[in-house]
Amino acid sequence: MNIGIDKFGLAIPEYFLDIRDLAVARNENANKFLKGLLQLEMSVSPVTQDIVTLGAAAAHEFLTEEDRKKIDMVIIGTETGVDQSKSASVFIHNLLGIQPFARCVEIKEACYGATAGLDFAKNHIEKNPDSYVLLIAADIAKYGIETSGESTQGSGSCAMLIKKDPEILILNNDNICQTRDIMDFWRPNYSAYPYVDGHFSTKQYLECLETTWAEYCRRTGKKLEDFTAFCFHLPFPKLGLKGLNSLFDKNINREVKDTLLENFHTSITYSRRIGNIYTGSLYLGLISLLENSETLKPDDNIAFFSYGSGAVCEIFTGTLAKNFKENVNSHRLETFQNRKKLSVSEYEKMFFEEITVDEEGNCSFNPDESLFSLERIENHKRIYKKNCK
Ligand code: CAA
Repeated sequence: MNIGIDKFGLAIPEYFLDIRDLAVARNENANKFLKGLLQLEMSVSPVTQDIVTLGAAAAHEFLTEEDRKKIDMVIIGTETGVDQSKSASVFIHNLLGIQPFARCVEIKEACYGATAGLDFAKNHIEKNPDSYVLLIAADIAKYGIETSGESTQGSGSCAMLIKKDPEILILNNDNICQTRDIMDFWRPNYSAYPYVDGHFSTKQYLECLETTWAEYCRRTGKKLEDFTAFCFHLPFPKLGLKGLNSLFDKNINREVKDTLLENFHTSITYSRRIGNIYTGSLYLGLISLLENSETLKPDDNIAFFSYGSGAVCEIFTGTLAKNFKENVNSHRLETFQNRKKLSVSEYEKMFFEEITVDEEGNCSFNPDESLFSLERIENHKRIYKKNCK
């Protein structure tokens, strides 16, 4: 049975910061961010936009009444949970009007969570071939003002409908994972922002890629030449490029190398404008590639490298379905122009606004007319608003 991604949605907040403005404010040479990280812009969310509202909006893009009836599992991968106990997917399930007899869970392992969710979804469909699973990868990456990671922040969500006979990508059965107990990036419960050992984390990312890829090739007998594209976890786009370059050996076929590089650059189009969305960034790379490539064809094979600090990584692969191009939004990039550009001081105020509740646990926010928004907190309960059917 073929199982994989049937539909794809993306939601980003309506605000962004130009990375050149950040460079000026932080007294850095803009080329450090533009060329050193390959970053152009960063998506900025107000306090009324969280992983619930972004996740629901990403799925709302494609959900039909039939999907709402057939989905029996909603999985969210995130490390920006809104509650230590209740899963964000329970809120999303309600906001989207999905039938009640469904399982809703949240998976966390830094930027790897959604990839575990993808395999979880695939296993569920193998057992229940007529089920649909809604998989959401949503995160808001905040390192804090004047931190080393500040230029790599971002906010957004990818949503995928996983089912049999998918219209976009068929998942293969060749996943290889690796786990290393390391402290490269972590966020203790008492801290609003992560701690990161930046250069150590990039070294671990690259080493995990190299060793997991070697194991993948050893177990499957495959090589780079078997793939048309390689999508990477993109904490910042330059790291993915370093990863791809590290896989080329001196005997690589020139044409294969050029194709992989061309497709890599297409895969970072959205990340360059959005920034890191942690567990969603690998899937942001995939959708950027599929929506903007003019050369990919049905049956092309794509390899994926998922990396979550801490660390767990996975290499897996997929094959493009016959009508994939008709099932993705090739005009999405045009909608990026509708976003509102913020000044650095507006970004600092908006992105780092903290929620303070009164003695009764209440708090209200300025109205937000997005499809879904956090309207208020009442007696410590988050109340969401739906501005659509
Ligand atoms: N022109 C062109 N390039 C320039 C430049 C200029 N004027 N100035 C600097 N550069 C280049 C540097 O040479 C460097 O490139 P190379 O790595 O290829 O040498 C690049 O710009 C960045 O410069 P620095 O290394 O000096 O930057 P930094 O030390 O201030 O910050 C970082 C880099 C540590 C990665 C920081 O961005 C960071 O902490 N990021 C967050 C952590 C992260 O993303 N880790 C990735 C792996 S962990 C993971 O994947 C999980 C996750 O999502 C967080």
